[in-house]
Amino acid sequence: MDMPLVISPLSFFDVPQVAEMIATNSIWQRYGIDYDTAYSVFAKALDRGETIYSGSVIEQIAGFIWFDLRATFYYSGGIRWLAVHPDFQNKGIGKLLMQFAEDKIFEKCPNVFLLAADFNASAHQFYETLGYEKVGELRDYFKRGITEWIYRKTKGPVVP
Ligand SMILES: CC(C)(COP(=O)(O)OP(=O)(O)OC[C@H]1O[C@@H](n2cnc3c(N)ncnc32)[C@H](O)[C@@H]1OP(=O)(O)O)[C@@H](O)C(=O)NCCC(=O)NCCS
Repeated sequence: MDMPLVISPLSFFDVPQVAEMIATNSIWQRYGIDYDTAYSVFAKALDRGETIYSGSVIEQIAGFIWFDLRATFYYSGGIRWLAVHPDFQNKGIGKLLMQFAEDKIFEKCPNVFLLAADFNASAHQFYETLGYEKVGELRDYFKRGITEWIYRKTKGPVVP
């Protein structure tokens, strides 16, 4: 990417932009997530004190990542939501946001997990390029009829 990506905590002021990014994306539309739902999910998360990170290019939000340091299976980090605006895709921004999250997670624990919908072949290729391995499937987890593929990136087991 020619322009530097600035990664910083998302503010309430940014919520409309990221809610719009989710609501206009066909992936989340399959789950029935509209603008109001997405807005509420982000606003409540910020209210609870959770940190979501945006990636901006010349002060425009190009994407965001929401992750947990230790929420998966008690001892592992997890990527919750990741999206790059269509105008900014395929420029390395998704990879930079993932590297940012992984750096923070791997400081605390040696495994990162995430879920990707069975129909999201593009995301499967993206995560596999980044070194994630498909380790399982969850049928009807978020929504009946959709299987979530479980991906893991590991530096080793929890107990060294
Ligand atoms: C998936 C997504 C986050 C990828 O972000 P991006 O900024 O477009 O991806 P990048 O440009 O950083 O790509 C990083 C690497 O993955 C590869 N990659 C990305 N998408 C790919 C695809 N569809 N097929 C093959 N490789 C792909 C790139 O070639 C690149 O490889 P390289 O490092 O060897 O050059 C983005 O497309 C997106 O927001 N999609 C819609 C929402 C979504 O699916 N989110 C994930 C939900 S689980």
